[in-house]
Amino acid sequence: MGVIRIDIAGPEAAEDFAALHARCFDHAWSAAEFAALLSHPHNIGFVARNGGGAPAGIALICAAADEADILTVAAAPEHRREGLGASLLAACEDEAKRAGAAKIFLDVSARNEAALGLYTKAGYRKAAERPRYYSDGSDALLFEKPLA
Ligand SMILES: CC(C)(COP(=O)(O)OP(=O)(O)OC[C@H]1O[C@@H](n2cnc3c(N)ncnc32)[C@H](O)[C@@H]1OP(=O)(O)O)[C@@H](O)C(=O)NCCC(=O)NCCS
Repeated sequence: MGVIRIDIAGPEAAEDFAALHARCFDHAWSAAEFAALLSHPHNIGFVARNGGGAPAGIALICAAADEADILTVAAAPEHRREGLGASLLAACEDEAKRAGAAKIFLDVSARNEAALGLYTKAGYRKAAERPRYYSDGSDALLFEKPLA
């Protein structure tokens, strides 16, 4: 993966989050939405950069009480299968633990093979299913992982 580094990001990174999110999802979140999310006291954002350039990856968690939720995670198309998604997940888990979380959760479409592969390899397990939850008709799978 070379010299990509992952840092915690504040609201000033909202434009970068929105730009990368738009490249990775059909329903992109706006810079204003990211600015609000990154300002929230329970949320922690992560940005992966290759030098000072455009972000190669982003992730955002909400950690409150003894639980954490992964709100989004994405790697730029040109940086996939380089271990970046796994590194972003690990960063999320480390900060969630630091915030006192004992368990971490996420929702994923049953049709998202890349994300299912990523989460399964990282030790997440399906805890529940929400049929036809997403606008494309796909089921949402709730995954969880205990944080040691
Ligand atoms: C899901 C996503 C974040 C994975 O990022 P990534 O940097 O390519 O993932 P990694 O390189 O860390 O892969 C780790 C493991 O995940 C699994 N994986 C990743 N991409 C996969 C794919 N396309 N198909 C099957 N398994 C895959 C593999 O087990 C992989 O390990 P390996 O490369 O040793 O086989 C990326 O595909 C992405 O940004 N997708 C669009 C946004 C998205 O769907 N985010 C998740 C929403 S829930």
